[in-house]
Amino acid sequence: MNKTLTTIFALAVACVTAVSHAQEAKGDVEAGKQKIAMCIGCHGIPGYQSSFPEVHKVPMISGQSGKYIAAALTAYKKGERKHPTMRGVSDSLTEQDIADVSAYYEQHGKTSAELPAKSGREPSVQVAELLKKGACVSCHGDNFAKPIDPSYPKIAGQHADYLFVALKAYKVEKNTHVGRGNAIMGGIAKQFTNAELKAIASYVGSLESDLHSVPQSRFR
Ligand code: HEC
Ligand code: HEC
Repeated sequence: MNKTLTTIFALAVACVTAVSHAQEAKGDVEAGKQKIAMCIGCHGIPGYQSSFPEVHKVPMISGQSGKYIAAALTAYKKGERKHPTMRGVSDSLTEQDIADVSAYYEQHGKTSAELPAKSGREPSVQVAELLKKGACVSCHGDNFAKPIDPSYPKIAGQHADYLFVALKAYKVEKNTHVGRGNAIMGGIAKQFTNAELKAIASYVGSLESDLHSVPQSRFR
């Protein structure tokens, strides 16, 4: 091959690679349903508690945005989010499995009629100031339930003790077992003391929510 052809060929390969990366695996709800047996023991028991790194309720994932679920699972898999249990779980999932379980959980527990967006209860003056300082609504959306991008989480009504653990994790660096590497939330969480994060978490956790833990039997 002459030099020009080689260059064109290399460019074409680069383009194909770029395209195949851009095409994300498409999730299938029915396929996902067959793949969640492993998740039910923790995410399908309302109020189920985890004791790592401190006692808190396991996050509700039914009704969460599928793109965010997939992003979170991928982050555990890559170790960007450190959590030994969820690392083990996500390591066992292929990219297609992640797309399928994410599609499944997004629609899981949704009521047929979309609830009208309720206006949240008012925060205290102190919490209102913290929320303003962190510009939380600019990304997590109206009432913390309508994120501006589907890869961002809905946080309204999530368990407050989990929200607190999650927020603190964005501040942790250089720890083998705990910590979240997300740069956006890292920059935000580090502006607050743990007492402030706790006040924020308990307010956000008290709001109306699209999120649920739906009780499910493992033996279907
Ligand atoms: C042994 C209990 C356990 C099992 C089994 C389990 N999880 Fe989790 N999951 C957790 C805990 C605890 C967390 C919170 C981790 C953290 O602090 O980052 C979590 C976090 C998550 C998150 C992030 C939620 C958020 O709001 O960021 C997703 C998504 C998730 N799990 C999906 C799954 C799926 C899908 C399965 C099954 C394939 C599964 N989990 C199995 C305990 C479990
Ligand atoms: C610039 C956009 C942006 C702003 C502003 C922002 N967030 Fe986030 N938030 C994100 C993104 C993106 C994620 C997902 C990060 C990840 O993948 O771990 C996230 C994740 C979270 C999580 C983890 C949710 C879960 O289920 O694990 C909590 C809690 C949270 N944000 C609370 C807040 C609070 C409280 C504020 C204001 C003090 C805030 N965020 C401001 C973009 C933002």
